[in-house]
Amino acid sequence: MTRLIINGAKGRMGQALLACAAREPQVRVVGQIDQGDDLASLIDQGDVVVEFSFHEITPVVAELCATHQRALVIGTTGHTDAERARILAHQSRVPMVWSANYSTGVNTLFWLTRQAARALGPGFDLEIVEMHHRHKKDAPSGTAARLAAILAEAREQPLAEVLRHGRAGLVGPRPAAEIGMHSLRGGDVVGDHTVVFATEGERLELTHRAASRETFAVGALRAAQWVVTQPPGLYDMQDVLGLK
Ligand SMILES: NC(=O)c1ccc[n+]([C@@H]2O[C@H](COP(=O)([O-])OP(=O)(O)OC[C@H]3O[C@@H](n4cnc5c(N)ncnc54)[C@H](OP(=O)(O)O)[C@@H]3O)[C@@H](O)[C@H]2O)c1
Repeated sequence: MTRLIINGAKGRMGQALLACAAREPQVRVVGQIDQGDDLASLIDQGDVVVEFSFHEITPVVAELCATHQRALVIGTTGHTDAERARILAHQSRVPMVWSANYSTGVNTLFWLTRQAARALGPGFDLEIVEMHHRHKKDAPSGTAARLAAILAEAREQPLAEVLRHGRAGLVGPRPAAEIGMHSLRGGDVVGDHTVVFATEGERLELTHRAASRETFAVGALRAAQWVVTQPPGLYDMQDVLGLK
């Protein structure tokens, strides 16, 4: 039995996690924390904190987990470089799974994207299109950012030099190395991601569409049960699924 504390419990993902946890006999939710609650006073009652709140909060949660020797699952996205560094500073003290996306389908999309970029080579133009609901606070999505990182790695190019967010005006011909990134927002879309590989005469598109937040919640609960058995370190969903 894994004892969970959910941070961001009143949010969209928090509610999905609570619904899924109620159907999973191997986990028990012992804490529901949201804005205004005190995680420190409760953290010793849990084995793992499942953090789906806001990017500024994650470094504080990671520090509490390190101090109290509790495992951590991070789903929150949109961290600044400084926040990332503050979180990663605790990886030698805490087992943490950190993934921009906990769905099995998206983790397979990550794998397929790497294979396609290698197989198709530099002659194909790379574009990423993502769409999310109108309430999403960060852009591009953490999943789209991860897809861009995978494409840049596969082409052995520094991501910061080739990433292009949107286009407007007289931008001229497209540089071959560019990785285009386009964020659509609207309605109640849970999360769509497409990677486009386009060249003269043909185009390949890899698309994943999430229809329910439960797909992320089920994956995050699986990660929570896995991470409590691991030594301190940084892991992702590919580790949890055994895809590495
Ligand atoms: N990795 C994945 O698979 C995955 C999937 C979906 C979403 N996400 C990410 O997960 C995060 C949450 O998404 P969401 O759609 O659930 O957002 P949301 O509906 O805004 O939920 C976030 C919750 O966290 C609360 N919160 C704010 N400050 C807090 C604090 N100091 N302590 C505890 N809770 C606090 C918010 O309260 P207030 O509303 O009062 O501020 C809200 O209830 C986002 O970063 C999103 O991109 C990741």
